Order: sequence, then structure tokens, then C-alpha cells
Amino acid sequence: MARAGTGKFDVGGVLMDQPFKIRRLGHFGMNTQDQAAMIRFYTDALGFKIVDVRDPFKGGPNPPEFAGMGDCKGYFTRYASDHHALVFYNHRFRMAGDPDGKRFWPGNTINQITWQVGSLHEVVEGHKWLESEGCDMVRAGRDMPGSNWHTYLKDPDGHVNELYYGIEQIGWTGHSKPWDMFYREFSEVPELPQMNEYQEVNEALEKGIDLMSGYRTNEEHLAFDKDVDGILMPRPFKTVKIGPLGLFVKDIAVSIDFYTHRLGFIITEEATCEGERVVFLRNNTEHHSLTLAPTELRAKLGLSDHTSTMSFGLQLANYRQLRDAVAFLTAQGFSARELPPEMSLGMDHNIYVFDPDGQAVQLYFHMEQVGWDGKPRKTAERRAVQQGNWPETLDALPDSYTGEPYLGPWN
Ligand SMILES: [Fe+2]
Repeated sequence: MARAGTGKFDVGGVLMDQPFKIRRLGHFGMNTQDQAAMIRFYTDALGFKIVDVRDPFKGGPNPPEFAGMGDCKGYFTRYASDHHALVFYNHRFRMAGDPDGKRFWPGNTINQITWQVGSLHEVVEGHKWLESEGCDMVRAGRDMPGSNWHTYLKDPDGHVNELYYGIEQIGWTGHSKPWDMFYREFSEVPELPQMNEYQEVNEALEKGIDLMSGYRTNEEHLAFDKDVDGILMPRPFKTVKIGPLGLFVKDIAVSIDFYTHRLGFIITEEATCEGERVVFLRNNTEHHSLTLAPTELRAKLGLSDHTSTMSFGLQLANYRQLRDAVAFLTAQGFSARELPPEMSLGMDHNIYVFDPDGQAVQLYFHMEQVGWDGKPRKTAERRAVQQGNWPETLDALPDSYTGEPYLGPWN
């Protein structure tokens, strides 16, 4: 735990205020109102690929007590090699399984907000410390599908956050790990050390498990007819990163305290929109990976009151693709609108598209990068983005196309 006398924690040999360091947003889970429409939107329209499906009724119809709830399956989807970047569960079905409303209640559509830390050791030590600090812990261990080691805890509004290490990577064949390998699931904090993945695969081979028997998505219904910067795709853009996430919270001071003092976020800067505080936080070099604002701002912006998710960001590969994405999605009847620029400091041109549940998906291509001195660019040095003005080309900024790169081929 804390190193004596310093109050600091040894994180891989560096003394820090928490025994872990969040590196990035890993995935996000949504509890949906219309599961079938949401899956179609995020897969066919936006390009996420289904990686695994959890079917509570094993291929059968909904039992009578769940009739009228629509598709009750859980879906794991990806845009890159992480096993999942977006997870979808049926909100009414999950509420039915949680009559006390401990995790699922109307107005909370967040299944999980999941942050990657640097090692399994950081997950385990982080869990112990957060628990000792009196945080509202949910569970810890290792979940399948996905194979990531984790601990779950609630933020002051009850949104479930997850810290994890080691999510399964999907390779060029597109197959996920076979369910026969899920015996390496853990429902408690693991003893350390654990065997590595090479050893796990060897063990599976010794058991005679077919390594290619995992799920592989089927996109045969799509036309791969768009030339997207040299690659044929069913849509004229490619998501290259998820986040930032925006949250409406009941008490912004309490939420800031949780995300900074418990999870270690750094405040980059603040804005005022419609008279309300908007706070931008980061945990790496991106200007922000999390935006917090009071719930009172939601109605002022005209956003849906069915969710405390203010927005979920998708970074597209470049500016041209962002313009093409807006044209592609609005032509299919999805609505898009810009919000005041105070809502997206550091992001250059961006726009919000509304998913079938009415949740705002923020499409953008640029994220200002913050260096060693922690200072964001001065307002006067930023591009003056005007709502409704989308020039065909933009002059480069000093940090154009910088930040975390996408790895591997587009698919
Ligand atoms: Fe997760």
C-alpha cells in the first residue's frame, strides 16, 4: 500500500497519489431502450463489429415475463483489436433482474465506464485501496467474454466505473476466444502472479480446445462499396478511437472530487455553458477523456432526459471522413446538430449525431494534446470554429493527427 512517510504509492517504481494510473478509456457499456435498433445503428451505420453475444434464452423466444422487451441479448462490439469497445444490454431486461435498483434504474443508461490501467498489479492494489477509502465497490475478478482483469466501483451518481488490465485482442481472423476457455474466469480478486496468455493458450491446446471456434461477425448483408482513403468499406469513415465521455451529474463538486482524488483524473480546463460549469478532465495527453456538467444543463441544451450520458465521442480517422460521415448518417435519417463550442474545448470541428435511443454521439477528428506542462492551448491560439461552417479543407494545427494512433488495418 502507501509507502511509509510519503503518503504515495509505488506504481511500477514511480511514487503516485493512487496505486494505479489510468491510461485511456477502454470501453463503454450502454443499457438500451430499443436494443435491436441500437445494435443496427452502432454496427451497420457506425461500423462496430459484433464480437460475442450473450443470449440469456439460448436462442429461444423471450419467456412470458420478458415478453415485449424486445431483444434481450447482450452484445460485445469492437472497432479495433480490443475485444470490446462498446457493450450493449437491454435496459428493461436488466432492470427486471435488479428489482432493488442497485445498478439499473430509469435515467441511468450506463452499464459501465471502463478505464485501462497499466498492469494487473495496479488493478489489484487499486481495488484494495479504493475499498479501504470507502468507495462503493461492486465486484472484482476477471470477466468473460473479454478476459480483462478488473474491479468495478460506482461514482457518486451510481455510474459504474471499471479499472482493468489485459483485455483480449482480436486478430486478423476476427475470431474471439472460444467460450470453452472461459474456465479462466474469476469472480474474486486474484492471487498474484497469474499465468500469462501464452501459457493459457498452451493449456487450451492441451485440453483439445479448437482455437478457431470462437464467434466471428457476419457482415455479408453490407456492401463494401465505399473507397475510404484507399480501403473498401460499407461506410465512408472509420472510427479510430472511442471517447471522450460526457456525464451529467447531480453534484459536480462531489463528482470532480471522486474522479480526481479517487481515480486520478487531471482537470485540463473549465468552461461555462448556459450559465453552468463544464469541466474537462484527462488521464493521458488528450485534452479530455471525460467531461462533467451539472444535470441542470441537460434541458438547457435540449438533450434527452432519459440518460445521464451527455455524449459519447467517436474519433474518426480524418476531417474529410467526418464531413462524409455526417452526410452519410443524415441521409439515412439520423439527426445531427452542433452544440455550443464551450461543450467541446480542444476538439476543433465536431458534431452530435443522435442514436435510436436519443443519446448524443459526438463525432470529431481532432483532439488537442496536452504536454508535460499540463497547459491547454490558449483560446486565442485555437481555431475559431463557427457552428454551421464546415470548410472543405482546414489549415493544419501544430498537433493535427497527433495523439494515440489506431493500430492495424481498417476493417
Ligand atoms: Fe468491462
